[in-house]
Amino acid sequence: MSARVWRLLVVVLAGAVAGCAEDASQMRFAQNADIAKPVHRKARAVVEKTLEEHFGTPLNSVAWLKLPVNYGKAEGKVKSVDGRSVIVDFNAETSDLESLKSPELSRAGLLFTSGANQGKSFLLASYDASEKSFETLTALETAPAEGDQFVVAGQNLRHGRKLYARHCQHCHGINGDGDGTTAKYLNPRPRDYRLGIFKFTSTNKDTKASRDDLKRIVSQGIPGTYMPAFVPMLKENELAVLIEYVRWLAMRGELEVQLLKDLKNDYAADRARKEAQETKASTSDIEKQIAKQLEEYVANPTEGLAAFIETVTGDMVSAWEGAETADTVIMPPVPRVPDTAESRERGKALFVKTDGGKCINCHGPTGRGNGFQTEDFQKNDATGGFYEKRGLHDSWGEQIKPRDLTRGIYRGGRRPIDLYRRISQGIKGTPMPPVAATVKPEQVWDLVNYVLSVPFESASPKAAKAHSIAGQPNELGNAN
Ligand code: HEC
Ligand code: HEC
Repeated sequence: MSARVWRLLVVVLAGAVAGCAEDASQMRFAQNADIAKPVHRKARAVVEKTLEEHFGTPLNSVAWLKLPVNYGKAEGKVKSVDGRSVIVDFNAETSDLESLKSPELSRAGLLFTSGANQGKSFLLASYDASEKSFETLTALETAPAEGDQFVVAGQNLRHGRKLYARHCQHCHGINGDGDGTTAKYLNPRPRDYRLGIFKFTSTNKDTKASRDDLKRIVSQGIPGTYMPAFVPMLKENELAVLIEYVRWLAMRGELEVQLLKDLKNDYAADRARKEAQETKASTSDIEKQIAKQLEEYVANPTEGLAAFIETVTGDMVSAWEGAETADTVIMPPVPRVPDTAESRERGKALFVKTDGGKCINCHGPTGRGNGFQTEDFQKNDATGGFYEKRGLHDSWGEQIKPRDLTRGIYRGGRRPIDLYRRISQGIKGTPMPPVAATVKPEQVWDLVNYVLSVPFESASPKAAKAHSIAGQPNELGNAN
């Protein structure tokens, strides 16, 4: 491995869950079969190997320090060595000292970045915070010297993985494909993280989910679905490491999709067969040529695989980091329009306008979720053709229904600010479109006021009266 790469990868023993036997088939992350299908098997193997190098396996993970994942990382220097104990000094400025208190510090990765062990990776056995000394799982053959620098990393990844395996995996799958053992009974299906798309965010339409968004979802669950609320079951630090693990799986999935899609251009599954037909050359000769070409692509340092990974991960890093900046969070520029009968009327008028937000096309004239688009054949942007089945589809290729707004269940949260964000920015990964470009903020509030009144429109006069007395909370709400 080149010097550049080892600096970025730290192996962590992610570990099995106590009392829960994980069989051998679970020892690897299964490939994204839908995307891999049209790709040549040799190219698919390259993707698998690349991902294993940068992310490891479920039980033997790699903390790829280039990614904006809080793996738990501390940098230090060796002070002295006492038998197997290495006495150290952590750099408080560059270290997440809190993560050294992680219950999963043992089996975290240790990587020497200078000295005789430079570039070598070990697993920690224990760390004694009062003595500031650690021992490694296997003895260090060459004793480190005073001043040798090292990184300890991956304790959060290890902790996150353990919690994920216990609480999330049976729905969201080992690799985050949303296809865990209980997933097939659920509608909607658990989220497949591998596109890196999350639906219910506070961020603008072009920005990923922030840590706060994911935290809110995992804490509070998604009403009207099987996604449970994990507060108070999980503690604050547990939520934090779980969210890092989800983000890590999402980034892994995204890189996988990008690699497979890119390789498909030159290495389609049917390439040998097609070329053999066209050129009358033998399939085995073409297969050999494919293998050679692929080998060259992997080895080419400037225009090959490494360069592609560099570009894709660069974009991925900025995209995820962008979600953590305050200016990507949608804050309405005007306060909520008072929730009056007039405002609701204006909202309703916009709702049923076919050339405005087009709400009616999907949600239907009374918001039941039965607009005409649910019956039409819809265009599939990914293929340029039409979907086989009628109705709307999401980015995962699944059929999706517009919400029945008469039920008053809002998956992304029921605060006015949540609905403002949903309507103004749309719902990522779904056909629900953003309207911010054509509908003024005041009008978005009118729509919010109308949407919140829909469940009462069809209700008994008594309920409607109670509603108008109690009103909807008339505050802006807050992102957190
Ligand atoms: C019983 C099944 C189940 C379990 C267990 C479960 N989830 Fe989910 N999860 C779901 C479903 C279903 C959805 C999708 C709901 C939807 O699309 O509206 C979902 C969606 C999500 C989302 C996507 C939110 C968004 O904005 O797109 C995240 C993140 C998530 N779950 C994280 C977790 C984590 C972390 C755990 C474990 C601590 C977990 N889930 C456990 C079923 C589950
Ligand atoms: C092209 C179809 C389409 C159009 C147009 C559309 N929606 Fe939706 N809407 C959906 C779908 C699909 C969902 C469900 C998404 C999901 O949660 O998976 C949805 C969900 C919603 C939700 C539920 C949010 C939540 O947190 O559960 C609200 C509220 C909503 N839409 C309001 C509107 C309003 C107001 C308009 C017009 C400005 C509109 N929609 C236009 C398809 C559409």
